[in-house]
Amino acid sequence: MSSRPAYYVTTPIYYVNDRPHIGHCYTTLVADAAARFMRLAGRDVFFLTGTDEHAEKVVTSAQEHGVSPIEWADRNAQAFREAFGEMGFSHDDFIRTTEPRHIGRVEGYIRALQATGDIYLGDYVGWWDPSQEEYVTETTAREHDYKSPVTGRELVKRTERNYFFRLSAYQDRLLAHIEANPGFLRPDARRNEVVGRIRQGLQDVPVSRAIDESDAASRWGIRMPEDPSHRIYVWIDALFNYLSTVDTPERERFWPADLHLIGKDILWFHAVIWPCMLMALQRDLPGCVYAHSYWIREGRKMSKSLGNFIDMPTLRAYVGRYGLDAVRWHLLTQGPLGATDADFAHAKFVEVYNADLANGIGNAASRVSNMIGKYFDGACPDPKGVTSHAGHDWPAIAGACAEGALRRIESADFAGALQEGIALTRRVDGYVNATEPFKIAKDDARRDELGAILYHCAEALRIAALLLLPAMPATMTDMLGRFSSAPKKGETFDDLARWGGLRPGAGIEKGESLFPRADAKEAPPDGGAPGAGKGPGDLPGAGLGA
Ligand code: MSP
Repeated sequence: MSSRPAYYVTTPIYYVNDRPHIGHCYTTLVADAAARFMRLAGRDVFFLTGTDEHAEKVVTSAQEHGVSPIEWADRNAQAFREAFGEMGFSHDDFIRTTEPRHIGRVEGYIRALQATGDIYLGDYVGWWDPSQEEYVTETTAREHDYKSPVTGRELVKRTERNYFFRLSAYQDRLLAHIEANPGFLRPDARRNEVVGRIRQGLQDVPVSRAIDESDAASRWGIRMPEDPSHRIYVWIDALFNYLSTVDTPERERFWPADLHLIGKDILWFHAVIWPCMLMALQRDLPGCVYAHSYWIREGRKMSKSLGNFIDMPTLRAYVGRYGLDAVRWHLLTQGPLGATDADFAHAKFVEVYNADLANGIGNAASRVSNMIGKYFDGACPDPKGVTSHAGHDWPAIAGACAEGALRRIESADFAGALQEGIALTRRVDGYVNATEPFKIAKDDARRDELGAILYHCAEALRIAALLLLPAMPATMTDMLGRFSSAPKKGETFDDLARWGGLRPGAGIEKGESLFPRADAKEAPPDGGAPGAGKGPGDLPGAGLGA
């Protein structure tokens, strides 16, 4: 058992019939950065991702490909694992809803809810959206002319004998919880949206589907434990993953989750249905449900028909040219964390890369290590007790950045946390420009001053690299290594970020450029987004699964 406080972060579990793309990678990347930050901060972290496999679409896709549903699921779950490996994600587990460890526990939760009367048998009449495998309310159906609000396909009127979850019974408790915990639903705009909808009234929701034994798609899923003529609705099955994975004696300390990271499309399930089910199960509620917005590309929504999805081949092309950490950096700092969508535009990618990485941390590191190489034979100079110089109180400056980063991470401001590392780097640049150590170097009498300046620069950059480590683990580990400061196991953020960690005399190595400058005139590495005004030659090749 660990005495360190637990931190549990989750991503949605992804539909296994889709190929991994920027959307899946993005949510998982934000979770990865949060997990890495928290590990560095000394927390006992559990980071979960995985795949949602009991959708009817899995069966139809499998049939189209001439394989069994589980073979199809195996194959595609593997594609997600590989994609997440390529992105350098550090998840502690990968749950698949077809695994016995999940299925057994889901049956247990359903039994418990039936025993309390929170799940009961009744009749349901409603508008079914076959393309999304969900019912839409009468109001939504009417508003969209009885077509799917997502895909525009015809809705179908369905009557079903179903098991229901008594959602209506939890309306007041849920509202009270949301009110008492302002950090529970984030960002604020999403909370207001959800609260508005809850106030219109919560109705009980079906949690099962009757099985048509002659239809393979209808048979696919977890059966209701007391009634094998029904299977558990895929969304209910899927939500339980967050709990089922840690509902073991070794992992129970992780519940409740601190952070469920999701996209805005699946907010209702996470902000309303899931918490109410947890209340019915008498389990604690997660600390925060954070719903980010969407990536679009070159100003246009990404869609299969436009063929402009940023899929793995596209991400791979960017990784190939700019490096994995540059891609991670772009997604993390320019992504749709707030309530508005974010545009993945090639020109912006290059601009941010050059500003933050090539001309930012990369240039600062090479400038400072160069001077230490030249003037001190590559050995870290001794500041001789000086910590404040030329209007820069370095322990205070670096301390404020480190503290700021931690505070922002705690409040789920991931992009803001990373900007602290960049801000610290800029302070170093400003300091070098103001003090001009290359001029001081010409005056032997000012050798101590030169040593102090370069110590301050190197030490501030070491701390900046630490703050950037969760976003860019490989490059920043490399940089810290060059500064003889690779974090050792067991060292926590508090120790590491303290001013003075860098020992005088330690080797400061220059090495290759961390982020070579990018040429803004070069075409996008994957040929660009189809239809983004690049010219007909760029059209083929960037589609799904190339
Ligand atoms: N299986 C359900 C989730 C169940 S969780 C208990 C599901 N899966 S999904 O494969 O469709 O993935 C949805 C998630 O992918 C979104 O919530 C979001 O995290 C991510 N994204 C999909 N497209 C996206 C963008 N264009 N931009 C950003 N993220 C988006 O829904």
